[in-house]
Amino acid sequence: MNSLIKNVGKIVKMRSNKEIFRLLANANFPLKKDLCKKKSNSYTRNILQNIKNEYILMVICWAPHSKSPIHDHNCQCFYKVLEGSIVEKRYIEDGKKLTKISKTSLGNGSIGHINDDLGVHLMENITNDYVYTLHLYIPPYETCNIYPSVDDLSQKKSILYDIS
Ligand SMILES: [Fe+2]
Repeated sequence: MNSLIKNVGKIVKMRSNKEIFRLLANANFPLKKDLCKKKSNSYTRNILQNIKNEYILMVICWAPHSKSPIHDHNCQCFYKVLEGSIVEKRYIEDGKKLTKISKTSLGNGSIGHINDDLGVHLMENITNDYVYTLHLYIPPYETCNIYPSVDDLSQKKSILYDIS
């Protein structure tokens, strides 16, 4: 993890997706199993580094059968599956509804990228095990929109994250 934290700032400044993918591909570190709230049936965000206006790096631990809401990002989001596998469903918004455009099972070591031009998404741990994913958001974001319904965009709402 030390080399990841040491290099991430420099790589983010290069503004090269290719370099970020390379950084994530090389990111391997032992996971502290206390990253999860074991009693939770949800996901837990663990911030590793938060550099104002530049990036935020975190590990998300997904309890068995937990999932995020469908959400947008207001930033570039890069991610890597550190342990386990997770399903990503992507949607596009046409002003009236969300249409699903893909469903991908991301296995151990898989790397991905999404931004609001590419769509919105949810991630779901459909397994009986805890799953760990690494996320790099450029720049850091405190708010995003979530979509409780794919058919009724009036339910779309902004949520605030505590990234301190
Ligand atoms: Fe996301």
